[in-house]
Amino acid sequence: MSRSWFVTGTDTGIGKTFASVALLHALRARGLHAIGMKPVASGCEREAGGWRNDDALALVAASDPVPAYADANPFALPAATAPQLAAREAGVVVSLAPILAAHARLAAIADARVVEGVGGWAAPLADGLDQCALVRAIDADVVLVVGLRLGCLSHARLTARAIAGDGCRLVGWIGNRVDPEFDRVDDYLELLRDALPAPCLGVLPHAPGGDAAVAAARIDTRLLLSAA
Ligand SMILES: Nc1ncnc2c1ncn2[C@@H]1O[C@H](COP(=O)(O)OP(=O)(O)O)[C@@H](O)[C@H]1O
Ligand SMILES: [Mg+2]
Repeated sequence: MSRSWFVTGTDTGIGKTFASVALLHALRARGLHAIGMKPVASGCEREAGGWRNDDALALVAASDPVPAYADANPFALPAATAPQLAAREAGVVVSLAPILAAHARLAAIADARVVEGVGGWAAPLADGLDQCALVRAIDADVVLVVGLRLGCLSHARLTARAIAGDGCRLVGWIGNRVDPEFDRVDDYLELLRDALPAPCLGVLPHAPGGDAAVAAARIDTRLLLSAA
């Protein structure tokens, strides 16, 4: 088996990283070698080895085998803003070729890759470069993380339509209880199940501090691995 999943979300800050880390743990619990990747990250700190991003570090830490940081995160842009703006500020041209080369190196050492996108689905990776171009180039299956909060129905439906319209495959979605104040979660989950054209792979509990192993147990990996 050799597969890449691309994790997108209904918005920024709704749990893509939390769910991606949980997915890595869940895949590893099935005995797979699974590596996380954040091809383009904005918002980095300068460390001894270079610019480092929290999302990418979390994905690297959840990976087995552990990849070289530069392969997990080929574009680490310092400013915590839209990648296009962060790239301009850093004088960096973000392009597909280095991402594909890094992805190929990861694919050579791990059966499963979990690739976290930026923001929501329509957020560009760079000037003239949409996330769907990367998804198609690495032939990834898309997993949509739905941040369970007001407005998520519209965001989820629009995202599912856009993924299909961009010629990509949505193979499942994960509900994430990012907002502990949001009530009627079960009602919303039922509406989402009816509205979305792919199965629910699990619902992650609100877990301040985020125990990824606990969250991983909520993901149906059998469904994930059989969906294509
Ligand atoms: N299920 C959850 N329970 C508690 N906090 C969560 C949960 N999911 C996400 N968070 C928190 O919400 C914030 C955004 O989550 P994150 O995974 O970084 O989102 P994204 O990757 O989509 O930007 C983080 O501070 C994260 O710890
Ligand atoms: Mg993230």
